[in-house]
Amino acid sequence: MLADYLLKRLGEARHVMVLTGAGMSAESGIPTFRDTEKGMCAEFRAEDLATPEAFQTNPARVWRWYEERRAKIRSARPHAGHQALVVLESLVPELSVITQNVDGLHQLAGSRNVTELHGNIMRSKCHITGRSISADWLAGSSQGAPQSPYVSHGFARPDVVWFGEMLPREALQQAMDAAVHCDFCISAGTTSLVQPAASLPLMAQEHGASLIEINPLETPLSPHADQCLRGAASEILRTIVGQLESWKRDADHGPQL
Ligand code: OAD
Repeated sequence: MLADYLLKRLGEARHVMVLTGAGMSAESGIPTFRDTEKGMCAEFRAEDLATPEAFQTNPARVWRWYEERRAKIRSARPHAGHQALVVLESLVPELSVITQNVDGLHQLAGSRNVTELHGNIMRSKCHITGRSISADWLAGSSQGAPQSPYVSHGFARPDVVWFGEMLPREALQQAMDAAVHCDFCISAGTTSLVQPAASLPLMAQEHGASLIEINPLETPLSPHADQCLRGAASEILRTIVGQLESWKRDADHGPQL
């Protein structure tokens, strides 16, 4: 349950920012990066595959790994937590969802203002020019990384941020703008270890926002949060949005002086 004073701040907020990480997608069946039991790092060493160097060395292997991830994501569906954020969008003047996830589940649920910090796995681009490659171009390709339409010795690669790469400039700018301007920040399902995303909630707090964390485990952000809600994102987001709906009803229909 969100503490009363924070519920009031959320109810009065003009701009809410929600930063999500792999834990937000976990309940949709997409493994997180660092959960040792079931994370992708247990099956593969992501650091060995999600890098420009790995792609240079063996584009086919990296492409196949991403094909497997795409297949998993295609069958994934948003959960109650994603849906709660769609409802939240209708309850506050402005909601910015900033996600480190590349699966598009927020958009699939119906969130309209989503910034993807680490790209989107369903899109592809030329590994040399960075120009986007259409799904039609890729449709006929079978095994291995498809040829780029732009450069004869280039390949298609997923349009995601790999270890050691810069974040898309526009997405990062949007995220920083949201952090600076929001008055309530929710960090949900992230270890708060990977920069620059991990700094965004602190940036929001420095600019006066209230800050809550949703995660079953403690993270480096926890000591800074106004409240840590320990548990699964689906349940906690649903509860918070339910609390906010009740708060708004009471505020609208309460006794008038
Ligand atoms: P991680 O896999 O590092 O962390 C997932 C977090 O979600 C952990 O803190 C879990 O405790 C938490 N968690 C697990 N299940 C949850 C649930 N049901 N509800 C809420 N929280 C839950 O993922 P991220 O922190 O998102 O970057 O990782 C950040 C980035 O590191 C990723 O985007 C990726 C990776 O390297 C790139 O690929 C560039």
